[in-house]
Amino acid sequence: MTSKASFIAGLPKAELHLHIEGTLEPALVRQLASRNKIPIPDAISSLTSTSSGYTFNDLTSFLAVYYPNMAVLLTSTDFFDMAYAYLTKAHSQNVIHAEIFFDPQAHTSRGVPFSTVISGLRQAIIKAERELGMSASLIMCFLRDMSPEFAMATLTEALPYKDYIIGVGLDSDERQNPPAKFAAVFARARQEGWLVTCHCDIDQQDSIKHIRQVLNEIQVDRIDHGTNIVEDASLVELVKEKRIGLTCCPVSNSVVTKDFKGEEILQLLRAGVKVTVNSDDPAYFRGYMNENLMKTMDETDITREEIVQLQRNAFEVAWISERKRERFLGLLDSHAK
Ligand code: HPA
Ligand code: ZN
Repeated sequence: MTSKASFIAGLPKAELHLHIEGTLEPALVRQLASRNKIPIPDAISSLTSTSSGYTFNDLTSFLAVYYPNMAVLLTSTDFFDMAYAYLTKAHSQNVIHAEIFFDPQAHTSRGVPFSTVISGLRQAIIKAERELGMSASLIMCFLRDMSPEFAMATLTEALPYKDYIIGVGLDSDERQNPPAKFAAVFARARQEGWLVTCHCDIDQQDSIKHIRQVLNEIQVDRIDHGTNIVEDASLVELVKEKRIGLTCCPVSNSVVTKDFKGEEILQLLRAGVKVTVNSDDPAYFRGYMNENLMKTMDETDITREEIVQLQRNAFEVAWISERKRERFLGLLDSHAK
């Protein structure tokens, strides 16, 4: 291992932007399809005949591969296996805390009960806590290309499992699906005591407008992606003042947009914004935490101290108890000495 790689590998890390359905590696898709006696999804079966892998170049074309692959997830054991595979991988990269997105509507809309989804994911987290000493929690995302009524019904369905879910988010196709469409859903989520984050994907048609909505109307605690704030100094100030974390995903950016936004990430970090680096959908974009940090280090002039600062930001904006935060920051500090 190069000294850069071992520096990154050794850092205690938090991952705050990770879609559990985005960790379905092709081998696991095949295994689950075979176990459930269902056909291998097209995107996977065509993988063998080409060497170039998945083909997508923007968010919409990525989602067109992403959702059909989920057909292999049917039982709580399937959800458990997917989540435990991710947690094991993250642990091997020294991720000590993970906040994991899941998309219940992508499953309930296929007839898989909410209870099946959450019980499998929850069991994997319990096992990772016990056997790997990892800390992890779940963030329930609403699909923004579906109706606010369906989102609200999903919120209601989740109430019996409230203690298993730390907060709620908003993902899927942002085109013509502004955050304000879900204002009532997020207001209710807040009333229920959930923390709130929303995707503001990179270079969308109305990126700035949507970022304003999540800050002013939805009143988010974090923003997923969100680097387009660099275009507006007043937004940078607002995000800084409110200490809102941005969960950036360089490898994912490099696949769904023209570039990986390394300069923007660095500019915001240097301006004092609580920027973090994460993996998003690592099986699809082919990069877990270490690969994302490595890309940032290889392709910008970021210093080692600033890489440590990215991790400090992650622990600072993580949705964890103050006791845990102190412990994790202590681990980071003793490593960075
Ligand atoms: N953006 C929006 N929806 C998503 C993403 C993303 O990066 N990953 C999985 N669903
Ligand atoms: Zn995402």
